[in-house]
Amino acid sequence: MTAVLPTPRAASPLERVATPRRYLMCRPEHFEVSYAINPWMDVTLGVDRDLALRQWETLRQTYLNLGHQVEVITSEPGLPDMVFAANGGLVVEGRALGARFTHAERRAEGPAYLSWLAGAGLKDVTEPVHVNEGEGDFLVVGEMVLAGTGFRTDPGAHAEVQELFGVPVISLQLVDPRFYHLDTALAVLDDSTVAYFPEAFSPGSRGVLQRLFPDAILATEADAVVLGLNAVSDGRHVVLPSAAVDLATQLRERGYVPLGVDLSELLKAGGSVKCCTMEIRA
Ligand code: ARG
Repeated sequence: MTAVLPTPRAASPLERVATPRRYLMCRPEHFEVSYAINPWMDVTLGVDRDLALRQWETLRQTYLNLGHQVEVITSEPGLPDMVFAANGGLVVEGRALGARFTHAERRAEGPAYLSWLAGAGLKDVTEPVHVNEGEGDFLVVGEMVLAGTGFRTDPGAHAEVQELFGVPVISLQLVDPRFYHLDTALAVLDDSTVAYFPEAFSPGSRGVLQRLFPDAILATEADAVVLGLNAVSDGRHVVLPSAAVDLATQLRERGYVPLGVDLSELLKAGGSVKCCTMEIRA
């Protein structure tokens, strides 16, 4: 007689663990596309601001429903891109570095975000020396920071971040103007996992990403061009643009819970989920 062995069950996907986060957002009250500083922006198109406000509110509610804390900075007239809170600074272990913008049109956002950070109960807040666009180009992965350059953030700011926070900073070269900030080309999923679009990086930087993250999710161009990688993860739930359907499937296969949101109006300025979200790390 042959023994009947239990059929091995398909390996259950890893149980991903969410941790509560503190986010800063900025309501798109003064949002418009009145200048063009990236290839997504077309000043002749026009935006529906009420729709932008509703879409933004859905994103805020998504975070609140997941149990995260969301604070809102007052938006300022004349700063239509201020809705992209990720660019306003970098906060690591309760310490902040302010932003210094590349383009004159956004420069006044630097001091606006810096003064919010100064009142946020952090250990210290430092004014930047080099041009840096905050979490647009600096992404924290566990104990290291991935840093983009090529279009906005100056490589000098990479060294500045390493020296200020005492964390290893990995410089990555962006080469495709559609993916002008690191957070348009790479998403942090948890302390050791990322997803990225390889073609957005120089060959050398692709090599670095392969070595550091051999198990990374590689996004398709179709998902990258809807800014699918402009996503925010709490370690389990990944909030991402709803049009990034293949990426959502890949995330599900890896045990994450993708939550799609539609930010079509903000996409007209070249931004999406992550751009609207600065994480305040304790
Ligand atoms: N219009 C803005 C700019 O070009 C969009 C910023 C998007 N933010 C981001 N974190 N990628 O600066």
